[in-house]
Amino acid sequence: YLNYRVPRTRKEIFETLVKGLQRLEYRGYDSAGIAVDGPSKNTDINSNNICLIKKKGKVKALDEELYKKDSLDLDEKLCTHIGLAHTRWATHGEPSALNSHPHRSDKHNEFVVIHNGIITNYKELKKYLITKGYDFESETDTEVIPKLIKYVYDNRESDITFSTLVERVIQQLEGAFALVFKSRHFPGEAVSTRRGSPLLIGVRSEHELSTEHIPVQYKNGELSHFMEINSHNSSDCSNTMGDDKAVEYYFASDASAIIEHTNKVLYLEDDDIAVVTGGELSIHRMSRQAGEDPVRAIQTLQMELQQIMKGNFDAFMQKEIFEQPESVVNTMRGRICFDSNTVILGGLKDHLKEIKRCRRLIVIGCGTSFHAAVATRQILEELTELPVMVELASDFLDRNTPIFRDDVTFFISQSGETADTLMALRYCKDHGALTVGITNTVGSTICRETVCGVHINAGPEIGVASTKAYTSQFVSLIMFGLMMSEDRLSLQNRRLEIINGLRMLPDQIKTVLSLDEKIKAIASELYQQRSLLVMGRGYNYATCLEGALKIKEITYMHSEGILAGELKHGPLALIDKHMPVIMVIMRDACYIKCQNALQQVTARSGRPIILCCQDDPEVTKNAYQTIELPHAVDCLQGILTVIPLQLLSFHLAVLRGYDVDCPRNLAKSVTVE
Ligand code: F6R
Repeated sequence: YLNYRVPRTRKEIFETLVKGLQRLEYRGYDSAGIAVDGPSKNTDINSNNICLIKKKGKVKALDEELYKKDSLDLDEKLCTHIGLAHTRWATHGEPSALNSHPHRSDKHNEFVVIHNGIITNYKELKKYLITKGYDFESETDTEVIPKLIKYVYDNRESDITFSTLVERVIQQLEGAFALVFKSRHFPGEAVSTRRGSPLLIGVRSEHELSTEHIPVQYKNGELSHFMEINSHNSSDCSNTMGDDKAVEYYFASDASAIIEHTNKVLYLEDDDIAVVTGGELSIHRMSRQAGEDPVRAIQTLQMELQQIMKGNFDAFMQKEIFEQPESVVNTMRGRICFDSNTVILGGLKDHLKEIKRCRRLIVIGCGTSFHAAVATRQILEELTELPVMVELASDFLDRNTPIFRDDVTFFISQSGETADTLMALRYCKDHGALTVGITNTVGSTICRETVCGVHINAGPEIGVASTKAYTSQFVSLIMFGLMMSEDRLSLQNRRLEIINGLRMLPDQIKTVLSLDEKIKAIASELYQQRSLLVMGRGYNYATCLEGALKIKEITYMHSEGILAGELKHGPLALIDKHMPVIMVIMRDACYIKCQNALQQVTARSGRPIILCCQDDPEVTKNAYQTIELPHAVDCLQGILTVIPLQLLSFHLAVLRGYDVDCPRNLAKSVTVE
């Protein structure tokens, strides 16, 4: 939303919208679209006309399409304007221009909507609206929303505000959503709301903001403020509302879309309805719930734009792999005191007593985040002396897993927005367990909905394949174990060994990264293969799962992480001289057992590529190739062993000609169940 003293051209508006989309493209990228005000001069259509432009493919394709529209005057100047833009990752309906957002109420574009999330009762709503004569043009769940708002508008009994319309619409919706609406009936007004999906509002003003928070206006009148964000008065250009504030508002799912315009943001709560009109932002709710904060604070984000740029690397994933010596330091910074061997996680310290008294720890996540839980389970059991369960969020929910008030539940998520993890969090909360978040995104929904937590401080991760977030999640969980065991006399030597290991980690990661050329050479031998097995056990089983996930998601090769202990129970049948196998054999408690697995592989003419410790002739002599890694304490070894597999998957994907940062069918932030 913009409201300028100095008007902007339509071209500038396009550029702002497209740039925002490009920054969000990592969340989904099969089609994109925008809605802007149509021509207001020399036109045969209503001056409140809304113009929709949608295109299948990446944002770049949309960008090119925008400039092909002869009917839109790029130089036309606009003072007040609301533009919507969306990049889609298909859930219902194939990627196509018709299925992409914004969706519209009718062919006159009376109401247009963009949506992030999923509407689970859309079939019932669609059926109902069809009986009322509404025609649907897409296969999406979203399209019920603009149809429904038009239905409510057409059936209004008296004057109705835009926000009341939206409020009535969301009362009918089930599922998760972040929505922004624009309408020909309410020119110059944007209404936005969320439930379950993230939504923030960036505020940019030419002047210092006169307030640090926006009070919520409750419909039942409990608190009824209406506050201006900006009280600038002079004007060169009066807008449609007769007002003249120099202010811009940005509604976005993620701060990276707006950070180049402003670092002042506020986060909406579920069912908040935000309205911008006449240069003013207001937030509305039906009534105040017990314990609810009656204001939404405007926060200042510390994220810098260059932090999210690619630098000298070819891909964000590659950049993020090479950032790991620094990102693990950032995770530890201010938390580990190497002089006194103490670890303090500020976000957990007030809950430590409660955690120590718990019945069990349950660590829940999806994909890579789940693997971080698998990687650290054994050391958490050892250091906390508690039973530790690790759970895939979707499966945890499918099983209606019993949860008790004295359980402590951890939710691991890079984005802090993963729908399955969020649902599991709400489930555990409903069962009275203590909820702890481990996320990389300040202000994310998981951060806000957990009682306490740890921010992993890995910095923005943009490549869809998670790399540095994994190693930082790993380090965070280890630090938690260390903090829990501080007063256990019997564990002091072990703690010392691990803290010392953490101190050496950044340099050891650098050593592993220096093997990049060798790993690239191995990739050039493997890239035409169809399949790749990754085998190991003990502390390195998680590395196998994570390495195989990296390979499959960006190279599209089949890859499987195999627990070496299971080899003879089935996977051995896959081994022959044609099947590429990577084995992780480090000098830890599983060393001998891993060597047995190696014998079984070589006896069947397998030609293993082995990740092993430096100077291990016993293993090297049986290997087809080796990648030799520095020796680390057993429970930290997984941080070093996963990095060659991150690099290998990167090089394989490049050699196979794929877009490393945007693997097909995947999105960075999976905000649908
Ligand atoms: C794989 C990957 C995914 C995510 C998963 C959970 O490289 O990135 O498997 O780990 O979708 O995402 P977060 O951690 O954001 O909850």
